[in-house]
Amino acid sequence: MNKFLFQTTPKLIFGQKLINVLPEELIKSNANSAFFVCDPAINKLSVFNELLKILKSKKIKTTIYSDIKSDPDFENVDDARDRIIEANPDIIIGIGGGSTMDIAKVTAITAKTGENAKDIAKSGIISKNKYPIILIPTTAGTGSEVTHISIFSDNADQVKTGIVHPNLYADMTILDPEITIELPPTITAFSGIDALIHALESLISNSATTFSALLAEEALKIIYNNIVAAFENGKDIEARSNMLYGSMLAGIAFANSSVAAIHAFAYPIGAKFHIPHGLANSIMLMPILKFNLENGLGKYSSVAKALGIETKGKTEHEIINQLIFMLDTLVDKLEINRKLKNYGVNASDIPELAKSVIKITRLLSNNPREIDIKDAERLYLEAL
Ligand SMILES: [Fe+2]
Repeated sequence: MNKFLFQTTPKLIFGQKLINVLPEELIKSNANSAFFVCDPAINKLSVFNELLKILKSKKIKTTIYSDIKSDPDFENVDDARDRIIEANPDIIIGIGGGSTMDIAKVTAITAKTGENAKDIAKSGIISKNKYPIILIPTTAGTGSEVTHISIFSDNADQVKTGIVHPNLYADMTILDPEITIELPPTITAFSGIDALIHALESLISNSATTFSALLAEEALKIIYNNIVAAFENGKDIEARSNMLYGSMLAGIAFANSSVAAIHAFAYPIGAKFHIPHGLANSIMLMPILKFNLENGLGKYSSVAKALGIETKGKTEHEIINQLIFMLDTLVDKLEINRKLKNYGVNASDIPELAKSVIKITRLLSNNPREIDIKDAERLYLEAL
């Protein structure tokens, strides 16, 4: 067995009603005022409005910040920080999708220290001095609720930059599948595929450990078997619950192993063409998968196992073909248009995109097959 280091959020509450759990937890921690960092559409979430009423009845003061851009930049984080400093709350609560939780995680620190988010991203020095923070995901996808990673757009350089540090872990995460019932099918598909790719890339990552692989394989199995049901019928609470559980497992897995080339390739097209993260991952899934499998099955044998592929009596070539077919068919069922040219990307953009991706060594170094600039151009061209 290989050596490993394993870290995660210290307290996870899964499957209970948010409106019951959160007020109780705030009272237990003597929090009299809570600052919510939320998605702009949070008011449409009936549970949230109910929650605010309950908190009011318990005399817990609430402040809401919901000016989150769809592709948040460092300025967005600093804006939220200033509002938190003004409000001076006892606790920060991030409720929403990945971008929202990413902002909440960083502001829990910068609202204490007064720093700019871009400065700490550059220095990599992340203070321990922080606000208590609870995260509540409203999508089953990013895994941000259980990772120590926050990703933002750097407008000046047109790149996505990650802040990765153990001090970004939340103190607590509350996962209530009922919240995700109101998600529209497109968001269910994009965020669900993101979660599936977290599990897949964590499993084949060069930094995978015995422990992270155990979680990633289970996550992949659960997400693969539930994503279409959640997409086709959003009210299927069993599928929603499994998706939220699976994406949480995938988040814990990749926080302890890393994602790889699919995510690396998704970032430049996300930063330059504002293609949503899950969609960008869906676009790059097949080109990278096929490229990696040209080197043989390798660690993808665990992927085949998670997908329930019967391997007995089959050649490696047959297993690879089946694996590719199953994942390709799955994305088709989610009705995702996977051609880069449909999102404003032209062949003439490819050399620049390839130059950008090759710099993302944090992720590319975890890909089982090395990728050079020529490969990068070929892979983007395939996705075009
Ligand atoms: Fe992701």
